[in-house]
Amino acid sequence: MDREETSRIESRHRDLAPDVFRKYAHEAADWIVEYLEDMNGYSVLAPTRPGEVKSKIPKSPPQKPEPFENVMDDFRKVVLPGITHWNHPRFFAYFSITSSYPGIIGEMLCSALNVNAMLWKTSPSATELEEVVTDWLRQMLGLPEEFEGVINDTASVGSLCAIAAAREYTGLQVRGKGLAGRSELSRLRIYTSEEAHSSIEKAAIVLGIGQEGVRKIPTDEAFRLDFHALEKAVQDDLDAGVKPTCVIATIGTTSTTSVDPVKEISEMCKRHGIWLHVDAAYGGAAAVIKEMRSLFSGWENADSIVVNPHKWLFTPLDCSVLYCRRPEVLKQAFSLTPEYLRTAEESDVKNFMDYGVSLGRRFRALKLWMVIRSLGTEGIANAIQEHISYARKLAGIIRVHPDFQLLAPVPFSTLVFRFLPSKLQTDAKTMPDLEINKLNEELLEAVNRTGRVFLSHTKLRGKYGIRLAIGNLKTTWEDVASAWNIILQKAKELSS
Ligand SMILES: Cc1ncc(COP(=O)(O)O)c(C=O)c1O
Repeated sequence: MDREETSRIESRHRDLAPDVFRKYAHEAADWIVEYLEDMNGYSVLAPTRPGEVKSKIPKSPPQKPEPFENVMDDFRKVVLPGITHWNHPRFFAYFSITSSYPGIIGEMLCSALNVNAMLWKTSPSATELEEVVTDWLRQMLGLPEEFEGVINDTASVGSLCAIAAAREYTGLQVRGKGLAGRSELSRLRIYTSEEAHSSIEKAAIVLGIGQEGVRKIPTDEAFRLDFHALEKAVQDDLDAGVKPTCVIATIGTTSTTSVDPVKEISEMCKRHGIWLHVDAAYGGAAAVIKEMRSLFSGWENADSIVVNPHKWLFTPLDCSVLYCRRPEVLKQAFSLTPEYLRTAEESDVKNFMDYGVSLGRRFRALKLWMVIRSLGTEGIANAIQEHISYARKLAGIIRVHPDFQLLAPVPFSTLVFRFLPSKLQTDAKTMPDLEINKLNEELLEAVNRTGRVFLSHTKLRGKYGIRLAIGNLKTTWEDVASAWNIILQKAKELSS
C-alpha cells in the first residue's frame, strides 16, 4: 500500500478506508506483542522534561487528512518516548498494574462496538454482561449473594457513589433539599483513617460534607485504623448532635496496604445504623485466594465495597466495581429519568445509569469477562499468590539486612522500607529523620534514574519510605531481585 493509499479517506463515510484500517490494526497488534514481550529497551520511567512532548506536537490540528502512516510514525517518535511503562515487569511504583492480552482485545472490541451501557435497551448485552461478570467476581471474592455490582471508571467515583448512598440512607432528604440553608439539619460526618485514600476526602468535598466533615481517625503501629478512637469519635459526635453518616474502612491502604479492623467496625456500624463502605480498591483482588480471606473478615457485613479490577486483576484501565448490598438506596440516590430515556421494560430490567453519576457508560464488562474467562479464576489466583510470595521473600531479605529497615508489615505485595546504614543506626535516635529522609530520597532518585526500574515513595510518621509494589502479570522473582540489587548498588555508591 503506498503513501497515497494510506491517507485514503472514504468519501461516503468520511472515515479511514476499511483496508487502511485493517492494515494498521494488524500492524498495531504486531507492535503490541513485540512491545509487551520485550520491554528491555525501554526506560521504565519516562526520561522526559516538562513540555518536551508538547514541543514536538503542532499547536493547531491539521485541516486536511494526514496519512495514517505519519500518525503512527509520530506515535513511535513523539508519544512513546514520553511514556512511563506501566506494563514493564520492573514497574514497582504506586500500585503496579497490568493489562493482559484478553483485556486489550476486550478494549479493542469495546471501542469497535462503541455502545453506551446507560440503559438495558441501549445494549442488552452490555447490561446483562455487567450483571453477570460482577456477580462472577463477587463469587471469586467470596462475598455474599446480596451484593450487586456496578462498574465505574475508578474507585474514586465508586466511593463517591457509595458515600452519596450513605447520605441518602440517613433519611435527611439531601438529594431533594440539599444541605445549604437548612437550619434543622445536623452536620454530617464521615469517618476514615489517617491512611485512607484522598478520594474519600474528595468525595466529601463533592457531596457537600466538606473536608471538616471528614474525621480522620489515628492509626496504630501497623497503620490500621484505631477502633477505640473511632468509637469515641462517633460517640462524641452523637453527643454533640452531629450525624454519623458513613465509616470508610480500608483493606489495603495506599501507603502500606494496612488492613483496618473491619469486623469490629462493621459491628459498631450495625449498632448505630451507620453505613459502612470498604475501600478495597487494591487489596480486594487478594480475596480470590482463600488463604488470604482472614484479612477480609467483616467485609461481608459492609453496605458497600469497592474493588478495582484495573489494579490487581489484570484488566486494563479503567474498571472499578462498586458492590452494594442495598442497591435500592444507591438507586434512590441517583435515579433521575428524563422522558427521552424512558423505556417500556424499565420495571423488568436494570438500567445502570440509575446507579451512578454518569449517563454515558463504556462497555467495561466486556474486557473483564474476557480476562476472567481467558485466565480462569485459578490462573488469576496463582498470579496474585506469586506476587505475594515475591513480596514476602524480599521482606525476609530486608528484615535481616543490616543497612535497611522495613517500615510497615507486608500483608499483600507491597513493601515500604528505608536505607539506614548500620554506621548511622546508633545515631538514628538522635539523628533527625530529615537527614535520613534526604538520603532515601536521593537513593530513590538514583535508582529510578537508571531507567531499569521504577519505584515510588511514601512518608510514614515523618519517615520517608521507599515503596515497592508487585502486581504485574509478567513480573518474575528475577525482576524483583534485580530491583533489589540496583537498590543495594546505588545505596553503596551513595554511602561510599
Ligand atoms: C486504597 C485506594 N483507594 C482508592 C484509590 C483510587 O483509585 P482510582 O484511581 O481507581 O480512583 C486508590 C489508588 O491507588 C487506592 O490505593
